[in-house]
Amino acid sequence: MSTHGLPPFPVPTSTPTGGRAGRPVCALICAVAVGTATACAPSEGAVTPSPAATALFPAAAPASHGSSGTMGAPGIGDPDFPTDGNGGYDVQHYDLRLSYDPSSRKLAGSTTIRAKATHDLTSFNLDLHGLTVSRVTVDGTTASFSRGGDELVIEPARRISEGDAFAVTVDYSGVPEPMHDPVNLGKYGFISTPDGAFVTCEPNGAKTWFPSNDHPSDKATYDFHITVPAGLTAIANGEMVGTPRTNAGKTTFVWREKHPMASYLATMTTGKFQVRTGRSDKGLPIYVAVADSFRGSLDSLLTQTGKITDYWSTVFGPYPFSSTGGVIDDYAAGYALENQTKPIYGGFSPEPSIIAHELAHQWFGDSLSIGRWRDLWLNEGFATYAEWLWAEHNGQSTADSTFRRYYANASDPMWAYPPGTARADDLFSAAVYIRGAMTLHALRREIGDQKFFPLIRAWTDAHRYGNVTTQEFIALARRVSGKDLTGLFDAWLFQPKRPAPIS
Ligand code: TRP
Ligand code: ZN
Repeated sequence: MSTHGLPPFPVPTSTPTGGRAGRPVCALICAVAVGTATACAPSEGAVTPSPAATALFPAAAPASHGSSGTMGAPGIGDPDFPTDGNGGYDVQHYDLRLSYDPSSRKLAGSTTIRAKATHDLTSFNLDLHGLTVSRVTVDGTTASFSRGGDELVIEPARRISEGDAFAVTVDYSGVPEPMHDPVNLGKYGFISTPDGAFVTCEPNGAKTWFPSNDHPSDKATYDFHITVPAGLTAIANGEMVGTPRTNAGKTTFVWREKHPMASYLATMTTGKFQVRTGRSDKGLPIYVAVADSFRGSLDSLLTQTGKITDYWSTVFGPYPFSSTGGVIDDYAAGYALENQTKPIYGGFSPEPSIIAHELAHQWFGDSLSIGRWRDLWLNEGFATYAEWLWAEHNGQSTADSTFRRYYANASDPMWAYPPGTARADDLFSAAVYIRGAMTLHALRREIGDQKFFPLIRAWTDAHRYGNVTTQEFIALARRVSGKDLTGLFDAWLFQPKRPAPIS
């Protein structure tokens, strides 16, 4: 549970039927629910290559130089998630060939990863949770491998030299098992449903369905070839390539995300869906899909998604991807996830403010990705502040009144939780969302709208498709505003107490 005992992330207004039993849902997005703040948890073709994963953690992801040579590290160097991701290489591209049968819940896959060695490698790791690996090849030659926990350790026949590109293919199958977070999320990762799968992987659930460098500091492009029983739809990120082909009772969908993507944003959500495509007023392609029981929301999801994506592009800077969209599945997760190009809403028809939150994440989280999880406020604080901006834009409550409502509650548990250091055991806490958003509002008041909005656009522009840190944001805020903001950020992000009132 979050510090408030309620999920901080966007949740539907009404409890979805079949929702997680006993899990209260917050009225609207808590941010907008005036007066309930205390009861309510906050709630191009050519693309820049992802930076070498180790660049973010120069001191981490060490190579171990044994007598046998150089081994990749089992973690990428995130201090709070020591075995997430891996060191020693940088993934460029994932090619996922997957076939899923909802009746047996069996997934069969062949994943090819193109990567570049960041030092000499006699072995390296991938993250994989459960599933049975039948074969691994490196550059076409059979490699030996072993399993331990969620690590797949691969020993290629020949040592890989620093700087070399290599391709590793892993063939595997089995019944995927989702991850479980008892505090904030419940189940996440590959979650089977009666007619398919609901696939939402933040923070480290990509490994439940494909071998990966499962950490947002190593972004890569993706191709998906997903085969499902005819009559079902398989939905992944980016855009569809060609038309789905049906053969012998099975249909293959090909999707391509040509912009770098963090592994937790990848999806292969599958089931019986109603699909609509269109374009926003600004001409951006839109793909929306809803489970049959949400058929009545198909048109409004398309319209709202186009309208909100276009609006955010005027506030945050150009939309970073080649299409926008959304998916409503009938799996009653009660939450949404900002899957790249297609946020997914788990078992509810989203309010516009929730769509606004998930689409804001396309800039904050998806295009600009954090390099370590403790910086999560750069995603959730910004997306929550976007909800406040959306309400303000629509002549509902101003961001200032929302801020003041939260500020007024001196005993809110979020004052004890400094959002600038999100905690691994309570990552998606209300403090990260609400106090993170309040940080941005305090900054806006301090530097004024004339500096604040250009700062936000400079931020999305400077780090498009890359990885970011809190220190980089603080440095840019100083540069754009010409003000020393150290005290403000320290009080709002790093102190375990309520900051002094803003003017
Ligand atoms: N990032 C989501 C949001 O605030 C919340 C979230 C975190 C989530 N992990 C998840 C949702 C896993 C679904 C599955 O919008
Ligand atoms: Zn969010």
